[in-house]
Amino acid sequence: MDRYTIKDNDICWCGSELKYCNCHKNFDLKLKEAKENGYLIPPRRFIKNLNQIEGIRKAGIINSGLLDYIESNIRPRMTTEEIDRLTVKYLKEHDSESADFMYEGYPKHLCTSVNDVICHGIPSDYVILNEGDIINVDATISHKGYFADASRMFMIGKVKPNAEKLVRVTKECLDFAVESIIPYKTTLNDLAKVIEVHAKKNGFSVVHEYCGHGVGLKMHEDPFVLHYQVKEKTYLIVPGMVFTIEPMINEGSRYLYLDYKDGWTARTKDKKLSAQWEYTILITEEGAEILSK
Ligand code: MF3
Ligand code: CO
Ligand code: CO
Repeated sequence: MDRYTIKDNDICWCGSELKYCNCHKNFDLKLKEAKENGYLIPPRRFIKNLNQIEGIRKAGIINSGLLDYIESNIRPRMTTEEIDRLTVKYLKEHDSESADFMYEGYPKHLCTSVNDVICHGIPSDYVILNEGDIINVDATISHKGYFADASRMFMIGKVKPNAEKLVRVTKECLDFAVESIIPYKTTLNDLAKVIEVHAKKNGFSVVHEYCGHGVGLKMHEDPFVLHYQVKEKTYLIVPGMVFTIEPMINEGSRYLYLDYKDGWTARTKDKKLSAQWEYTILITEEGAEILSK
């Protein structure tokens, strides 16, 4: 028995200020049914209301715009520090901030991960982009208190076929996962399976140490979104959830080591290439909407 049962004309629990019967009543009924069918139901704190979604949507547009801006400026012989400077300029012009800057002491405004760097590469005057390199550029931004997080791979000039394949397959892992989402039906484990199967089918491995996450009111929120399957029950994916999917796929083995000098940079143990793509997505009644890519 509920401590108290919400009535049709009560204000909805989501913060929309709409009547319950015009807001999340149907949603609650669907979740109740799913729960009875054995699914793990996400708690209400995972569900964003319409105002929050509008705020995160705007942040997502700026986040994607930043990556577009970097995409049109990236070129051989550029340093990753220059990408950091472009980011500072763009965010200032768009009334936004880097969420990465000073996050747990992180010293720069985004992450730039070249070749064998899996993630959290720190922009530097000493890292110069050369023809044939692949780089992941990952930026989390905040705009009026709302957060979005996305990353892309860039190929510098002409790259080797193995690098090109890794970049392509990693993006496919993410796109296939997003396309597979059916609200009230797909679970986080189902997503992980799509990613893992596609990576392994192509001879690649999935990094386990980093994962996607809820996002929107902070950079990192619950739930964790793993890119490999686990035995435990995982959450059902339902409308109102906003989270990232951000598979890191290695050309060789999945194992990594952390740079002991900066404490951030994660590299492949076997020195082979790693790639990553990340979107912020919103779950709607129809499927997944990409808010930032
Ligand atoms: N953008 C990263 C993510 O996808 C987090 C950045 S770590 C930081 O979750 F240190 F750069 F902030
Ligand atoms: Co990110
Ligand atoms: Co992220």
